Amino acid sequence: MEFDFENIKKLLSIQSKEELNELRNLSYNKLTEFVGECVYLRGLIEFSNYCSNDCYYCGIRKGNTTLERYYLTREEILDCAKIALELGYGSIVLQSGENNSEKNINFISEVISEIKEISKSELLPNGLGITLSIGELSYQNYEKLYKAGAHRYLLRIETSNPTLFKKIHPVKQTFERRLECLNYLREIGYQVGTGVMIGIPEQTIDDLTNDILFFKEQDVDMIGMGPFIPHKDTIYCDYYIKKPTALQKNYLLSLKMIAAARLVMKDINIASTTALETIHPSGWEEGLKYGANVIMPNITPFKYRKKYQLYDNKPCSDISPSEQNSLIKSRIEAIGRKICYNEWGDSKHYWQRKEKNILINKD
Ligand code: 5AD
Repeated sequence: MEFDFENIKKLLSIQSKEELNELRNLSYNKLTEFVGECVYLRGLIEFSNYCSNDCYYCGIRKGNTTLERYYLTREEILDCAKIALELGYGSIVLQSGENNSEKNINFISEVISEIKEISKSELLPNGLGITLSIGELSYQNYEKLYKAGAHRYLLRIETSNPTLFKKIHPVKQTFERRLECLNYLREIGYQVGTGVMIGIPEQTIDDLTNDILFFKEQDVDMIGMGPFIPHKDTIYCDYYIKKPTALQKNYLLSLKMIAAARLVMKDINIASTTALETIHPSGWEEGLKYGANVIMPNITPFKYRKKYQLYDNKPCSDISPSEQNSLIKSRIEAIGRKICYNEWGDSKHYWQRKEKNILINKD
């Protein structure tokens, strides 16, 4: 079945329990048919909350002067990478606010090379898989980090509606520039991930429908998306007063978005995100049931977690990574899925599109 605007919108508008069950089953079947039941874990390292941007919705935006800024040292990042390795995660995500100074790019590039060096083993001959999520950079910097050993990149478009994008960002952060960066990443050879926030003030079901079509049109390899959750130090601090039912609505809508993305894009990787888990204690499981296949457990040192609050109530638990791993393992097994350890868990879509390109170039 080909999905167009009308039938995607229909999926996102589903309300009845029966239809939701049906949607979940359809999407789950697509998942098992195209990517299998494996869940891949990526150890998330939030290595700095410095940010030169001022996204109106984000707790670590530059304008939030109440926040103490931090930077993990090279040793601290390497220690996190070792934890991921010991837990068998296979991949890590290096995430931070945006900082495209030469010093910072050199630092990240060196850290990536070192992580690659220390993580090669019989189990992982190419070392840990490294995903970056550090915002908009120049072509040269993206290329430098790719050459250093990062092979996936997450850069959310936040919304595919340029008018809405303008409302939630300062004028100097443009939709066009974000698109340009997504194109650079793809051209360089990264596996490219994008995503949106679900439930942004003034966002409509039509916008979200277009978001799914945007993912398709961009032919992305990975998606990470989740509910919009207000942060107290942003202009959206009174969001729940204005929209008292938003929390549950955004949560359900996010699950439907995951299902729709799986049905439309089939073989991509989709994350069940922390924002889902923030709203509901079994948010991760629900995301997986609706078609996601990736989870990103936070392995940032505890003392920094409170300083990386992108939105209110973002979990900053103080259980050890190995305890966290056991908990996640049992939660995932309880829903009849299994974790695939010591694998990169690349997006199948990426390899398909690579193969297609090789064939086209041969012709
Ligand atoms: N609610 C939900 N997600 C948010 N992010 C930032 N602020 C919020 C918020 N208030 C997400 C953005 C960004 C990612 C790193 O975190 O989508 O791309």
